[in-house]
Amino acid sequence: TKPRVVVARAVYPDVLAQLQTYFDIQANQDDEVWSPERLIATLRGAAGTLTTGSERIDAEVLSACPELRICANMAVGFNNFDVPAMNAAGVLATNTPGVLTETTADFGFALLMATARRITEGEHFLRAGRWTKWSYDLFAGQDVHGTTLGILGMGRIGQGIARRGAHGFGMQVIYHNRSRLSPELEADCKARYVSKDELLRSADHLMLVLPYSPAAHHAIGEAELALMKPTATLVNIARGGIVDDAALARALREGRIAAAGLDVFEGEPQVHPDLLAVPNVVLTPHIASASVPTRRAMAQLAADNLVAFLVHGKPLTPVNPEVLGDR
Ligand code: GLV
Ligand code: GLV
Repeated sequence: TKPRVVVARAVYPDVLAQLQTYFDIQANQDDEVWSPERLIATLRGAAGTLTTGSERIDAEVLSACPELRICANMAVGFNNFDVPAMNAAGVLATNTPGVLTETTADFGFALLMATARRITEGEHFLRAGRWTKWSYDLFAGQDVHGTTLGILGMGRIGQGIARRGAHGFGMQVIYHNRSRLSPELEADCKARYVSKDELLRSADHLMLVLPYSPAAHHAIGEAELALMKPTATLVNIARGGIVDDAALARALREGRIAAAGLDVFEGEPQVHPDLLAVPNVVLTPHIASASVPTRRAMAQLAADNLVAFLVHGKPLTPVNPEVLGDR
């Protein structure tokens, strides 16, 4: 008999069809977000699951589902997984690195441009029928080219953004990260390592691309915002919770920074009401990786991880390879 696999959210039908050749599939093509109770009830007896950021896999799920062996996340981030609990339970986690890097870096730049140049504010004004004349300062924003781009978190996506800024827009790129890049990568990205304080003080545009971890919670809060230039913009394509959204809304309202572009939010899909009330913020619904080819590649890689591990014993992109032991 085929192993049972739960596909916890809707995916491309042809990817589902591939999985059906290997597994007894229970799929959620209605795409409801299951409650934790429903998730546990559905995962009972399953060997694997394809998840998204909406499904939390924690000690409670793992202890209720002892037959579970792999959770394949259709995302590069995996803060919906309690990895220490998965390690303790011997459950493999996989993610989708690599396939979304350039698409997500493109989006970071799109959000930066829209934010600095007030593109969505201008569009709302036009659609509301309020455009009656040209004015010298109508939606005058901040320049992007030739300015200083600060990047917090210098993984693959951060490097993609650095290259775009340095090579395409003539920006001076500074970054802060837990560890420094190699001299070769720093040269390739034309990026200079600085302290977090210098990053906050010097950036004209600050891009957040670090993975979420408890240590990164509110990495940008009241004190950090206070160091930024009043003309600075902030872009978050990383994860909700890295920015203190209430503190950010206050800083935007009081003009302590110029504008923000946000693709991720604390408690999403809820958005802090104070952010919805300020005009100088561009808001998008967690779509940084959402190009058609990249979302297909992410679904395919998540599915391929399930087959590679449950059928062939060797996952492609494990997060916690230590659970494989010497199998
Ligand atoms: C999306 O946020 C991802 O982690 O891939
Ligand atoms: C994700 O791919 C990252 O390392 O930024």
